[in-house]
Amino acid sequence: SAQLNDLAVRAGLKYFGTALGEGTINSDSQYAAILNDKTMFGQLVPENGMKWETTEPSQGQFSYGSGDITANQAKKNGQGLRCHTLVWHSQLPSWVSGGSWTKATLTSVMETHINNVMGHYKGQCYAWDVVNEAVSDDAVWRDSVFLKTFGTDYFALSFNLAKKADPNTKLYYNDYNLEYNGAKTDKAVELVKLVQAAGAPIDGVGFQAHLIVGSTPSRANLATALKRFTALGLEVAYTELDIRHESLPASSAAAATQGNDFANVVGSCLDVAGCVGVTVWGFTDKHSWIPGTFPGEGDAMLYDASYNKKAAWTSVSSVL
Ligand code: XIL
Repeated sequence: SAQLNDLAVRAGLKYFGTALGEGTINSDSQYAAILNDKTMFGQLVPENGMKWETTEPSQGQFSYGSGDITANQAKKNGQGLRCHTLVWHSQLPSWVSGGSWTKATLTSVMETHINNVMGHYKGQCYAWDVVNEAVSDDAVWRDSVFLKTFGTDYFALSFNLAKKADPNTKLYYNDYNLEYNGAKTDKAVELVKLVQAAGAPIDGVGFQAHLIVGSTPSRANLATALKRFTALGLEVAYTELDIRHESLPASSAAAATQGNDFANVVGSCLDVAGCVGVTVWGFTDKHSWIPGTFPGEGDAMLYDASYNKKAAWTSVSSVL
């Protein structure tokens, strides 16, 4: 029977993809076998390997070994690549976050970083998450060294620098909790409008979609949220989908709800012209960032910890 990427492409999406855990790929052969199947996952994104703390841990010292794991795997398997991420307050080395910068010196640091990292992967990335998570949960601009130094001017600056470094990749703004179409979504719309008003290039908005079983919006409401950005001329994608149970173990009723929630997310992408694809942030409950970040929660993936396809997998395959 057909696997998820093949089904997604047949349904009109460009890809169904997954994050690749750099620590896992060489230590778990079952993980590797599913990840290497391009009929299952047509696109890969590095879970951590292209972040600033990994690629430029000290100033001017670039390191691509971890990011290359995903890029090489994608190349070898004939899978696409999403690249993640350039300008983000988190996983940012302390030499950047704790530095005392002027606009001129931080611009130069950002330009060097973006030129080197995008230059290294030039021609390989379908898209780059240029700016990540610049809106806080209470819907104000997120505090960061970038905001402190530039105010909101760093949005357009980042996109302009990215365009110069690799003119042929899609430039994305990426964030979570945009799915609820509340005040945070309004603020992300404002961000896009600021970038566009400054004449800077932006191509897409990534909805991370770190969601919760039973609290995931309906398919129609998800589509409405996506359309706020396609209305601005952008493409959209789900970039980090996982749907966690808040209490474990999950009952079979909860597992079915999780399946419906996954189907609503994937279905909403099908419903929106300009929604190009879906990427899950890992695919097995054996290896997931969720329990480490949300203690006591989890089982947010399409496969269980023994690599059995869950109700969620079946539900995604049926909606595609
Ligand atoms: C997470 C990774 O999954 C973890 O391994 C890491 O420890 C922290 O970052 N939003 C993002 C991703 O944009 O980069 C984050 O990934 C999850 C939330």
